[in-house]
Amino acid sequence: MMIRANIKGCGSYLPERIVTNDQLAERVDTSDEWIRQRTGIRHRYVAGENELTSDLATKAALAALEHAGIDATEIDLIVCATATPDETFPATATVVQRNLGVTKGAAFDLQAVCSGFVYGLSVVDSLLKTGQARTALLIGAETFSRILDWEDRSTCVLFGDGAGAIVLQAEEGTGDITDSGILNTHIYSDGRYHDALYVDGGPSSTGTAGFLRMEGKEVFRQAVSRMPEAIDTALQTSGLSPSDIDWLVPHQANIRIIEAMGKKLKLPKDRVVVTVDKHANTSAASIPLALTEAVYDGRIKRGDIVMMAAMGGGFTWGSALLRW
Ligand code: COA
Repeated sequence: MMIRANIKGCGSYLPERIVTNDQLAERVDTSDEWIRQRTGIRHRYVAGENELTSDLATKAALAALEHAGIDATEIDLIVCATATPDETFPATATVVQRNLGVTKGAAFDLQAVCSGFVYGLSVVDSLLKTGQARTALLIGAETFSRILDWEDRSTCVLFGDGAGAIVLQAEEGTGDITDSGILNTHIYSDGRYHDALYVDGGPSSTGTAGFLRMEGKEVFRQAVSRMPEAIDTALQTSGLSPSDIDWLVPHQANIRIIEAMGKKLKLPKDRVVVTVDKHANTSAASIPLALTEAVYDGRIKRGDIVMMAAMGGGFTWGSALLRW
């Protein structure tokens, strides 16, 4: 017997406003063709002026609770993966906690940028397994539009806003691969890559929020090797092979990175969930947004083996293997 973190439901939220590539081409020297060819992105969602990360997070959380059929009063852990919190403190997770009327347990933010959701799965899995919580909300929520330099064509076309959430509950499993829930997680970081992807501001450095800066080519190079490595480790740990994967739900940064991963795993294209075309890169929100789409449209079914992998600033990266 062992405790498993079972996923009871998922949900997501996107802001109303869609910004197309053509609209961006009116602001910076770019084109729909360049953006689509290099990234696969067609449009992205951008939060309203008064819409905060906590607002997106709360709406995604409510959708996930409804999908799970679980009342907010049962929640005793809220983890919000975000690199764009409402304020420097308190944690955006505590704002969500208040919005949901939850008054027990713990709520905190987790900062691993685009790897935030995979890191969050690892942290929540541990807390549920050690009995420190029973019913958890894991949210990935971002308003990257607030930290983009809208004059920099090499970055502003790549990102979007959004949120996704899942509800997890501690349940008894057998401990083997037939269990549903999180089967294993592997998380990594290497701070030597700071300069390849960072924000040039913050409370302790400039006192401003700063703007995202990126060496796209270096990120690309690392992403196509680190994520497959983390996936291999997940498969080895569980004794599975790539052909056992029903669905790959990768971080959604660039269609070329996603396709390279699918190819390395020899996965047919229709087993890879892709939303980067519609959402662009929503950082910690990208995996739960993609997951929710594929669960709601019936692609991902109970019992399916789902592999997640992400990579982000730091660098941080990792994988999570679960049975839906
Ligand atoms: N529109 C038009 N041209 C653009 C452009 C844009 N939005 N952005 C950059 N360019 C130009 C560059 O200035 C460069 O011009 P030059 O050759 O005259 O210098 C040219 O396009 C090629 O740029 P390059 O950076 O070499 O393109 P690329 O093929 O590496 O694609 C990225 C750029 C950013 C799409 C790609 O590197 C990438 O996706 N990297 C990973 C990013 C990522 O995933 N980040 C998040 C990780 S969580």
